[in-house]
Amino acid sequence: MQDYNIKVQFEKETLSLSCTENQDIISAANTNGIDLPYSCCSGVCTSCASKILEGYVDKEDAMGLDDDLKEKGFALLCVTYPKSDLIVVMGDQVEDDLYNDQFGNY
Ligand code: FES
Repeated sequence: MQDYNIKVQFEKETLSLSCTENQDIISAANTNGIDLPYSCCSGVCTSCASKILEGYVDKEDAMGLDDDLKEKGFALLCVTYPKSDLIVVMGDQVEDDLYNDQFGNY
């Protein structure tokens, strides 16, 4: 089974973890003892919102994102499966960007 290296930029740190191709990134982080934000673990709530900076993923199960947001690089890590090594960013700024993209700036 293919094992990928995932770097997650979160709260001014870069965290490194390994994840197999059939494991979601939040589960892999938990297995690696890394605490990332999540809630529903079903691709709905967007607590685990992230942006893929480098690499390829399968994120088809992200019900909380429309196709436009997926094309912009947003992903929900609880239902995101790596297809290559990755660099990912998550945290407040990504959540704000996602919210503004989805609902507009007010
Ligand atoms: S934890 Fe809810 S969408 Fe990922």
